[in-house]
Amino acid sequence: MLMNYSRTIMSLSPSATLQLSAKAKELKKSGRDIVSLSAGQPDFPTPAPIAEAGIDAIREGKTGYTASTGIPELKEAVARNYSARRNIEWKAENVVVSNGAKHGLVNLIRSAINPGDRVLLPKPYWVSYPEMVKASGGIPVYPKESINPEEIVTAAYQGAVGLLLNYPSNPSGCVPSEDEMKGIADAIADTDMWVISDDIYEDLVYTEGGTPHILDYRPELKERTAVVSGVSKTYSMTGWRIGYSLANTEWSKLSGVLQAHSTSNPCSISQWAALAAVEGKAESEKNEMHNSFRKRRDLMCSLLLDEKDLQFKRPEGAFYVFSRLTADTELDTESFCSELLEEEGLAVIPGSAFGAEGYIRLSFAASDDDIREGVKRLRRFLHRRYFA
Ligand SMILES: Cc1ncc(COP(=O)(O)O)c(C=O)c1O
Repeated sequence: MLMNYSRTIMSLSPSATLQLSAKAKELKKSGRDIVSLSAGQPDFPTPAPIAEAGIDAIREGKTGYTASTGIPELKEAVARNYSARRNIEWKAENVVVSNGAKHGLVNLIRSAINPGDRVLLPKPYWVSYPEMVKASGGIPVYPKESINPEEIVTAAYQGAVGLLLNYPSNPSGCVPSEDEMKGIADAIADTDMWVISDDIYEDLVYTEGGTPHILDYRPELKERTAVVSGVSKTYSMTGWRIGYSLANTEWSKLSGVLQAHSTSNPCSISQWAALAAVEGKAESEKNEMHNSFRKRRDLMCSLLLDEKDLQFKRPEGAFYVFSRLTADTELDTESFCSELLEEEGLAVIPGSAFGAEGYIRLSFAASDDDIREGVKRLRRFLHRRYFA
C-alpha cells in the first residue's frame, strides 16, 4: 500500500549540523583519524554539584511525572533569575520548562502561528528556525540585508507577524552594539510583531557588559516577547535536555497545553539537576568553562588570522567562528565540507545550513590540540584546492 505522508513534514530538511556530526562520528568509529570542529556543545563534563543533584533526585525517588510545565521550584527559580536579569517582573506562571531550548522554541512558535503566517528570520539564522516555522504551517521570510530597523518595519508592512532574534548568534557569535539593539527594539515597538528572543548563549559572551537585549530598551515589549534559554550550553548539560521559556501568561499557557499533549513533562531528574544550576550551585565551574572558551576563541582566531582565503569577524559570544571563504565566490559549501571531511578528516559545518552560502562554521568547543590540528588541516586543504 502506498502511504500518503505529511507534505509539510516531507518538505523539511534534515538538520545539517546533526547530520555532519553524525557522519564524523561514524568515520571516527570506523578507525579514521577525525578532528571535529563541528560541535554545538561544550566538551566539558556537567559540573559535579549539578550531576549530584540529579543523582540525589534518583535516590530520593523523584522519578515520576511532574507538572507538565515543570516542577514549581525550577519555574520559580527561573522567574526570579530572569526578573532580576532583565529588571522585569515574571512569575512562575510565565515559565514553561521544556525538553531543551529547542523544544521551548517549537512550543512557542506553534502556539503563535496560523497557516500562512510570515515570520522574519534574520540571516545567518540558526539551522532549525526555518524548519520550525514551516512545520508549524508558517512561511519563513528573510531580510534583504542584515537585520536593521528598516528591514523590520518593511517586513511588518509586508505582513510578517513575528520575528526571531538570537544573540549571541549561532552561527556567527555576533553580539549587536547597544545602539543597534536599541534601533531594533524601537522598530519592533512600531510594529505589532511578536518576538522570540533565543538567548541560549547569553552567558557565553566575551565582551564587557553582556549582550544588549530588546527588553532592556523597550520593557513594554514583554507583552509580546518570549525569551528562551536553558542550561544546555552554559552548564554543559546538552544531554539532560532542559530549556525554559518566559512569555506572557496566555502564550505560556498555550505552550504548556501543547507540551502536555506531546511530551507530558521534561525529565524529572534533569529538572532537579537544572535547579541546582539555576540556583547557582556551579558558578565557579561555569566561570572556568567560560574562561576556557574565551582562550580557545583567541587561539582559533589567532591561528586563522593570516589565512588570506578566510574572512571573519572575531566572535564576541557563543563558541563559533563563522568565516567567509574568499577564494571561491561560486562555492557550494556543502560539497566543500564533505570533501574536507573525506580528504582531511576535518568536520566543519557548511554555511548553507544557516542561509549563508560561501561561509563555514568552525566550533571552538574543542580542545586546544584539536583546534590547532583542525586549523592545520583546513589550511592544507585550502592550499591544495586553490593553489595546487
Ligand atoms: C541558537 C540555538 N538555539 C537553541 C538551541 C537548542 O538548545 P537545547 O540543546 O537546549 O535544545 C541551540 C543548540 O544548538 C542553538 O544553537
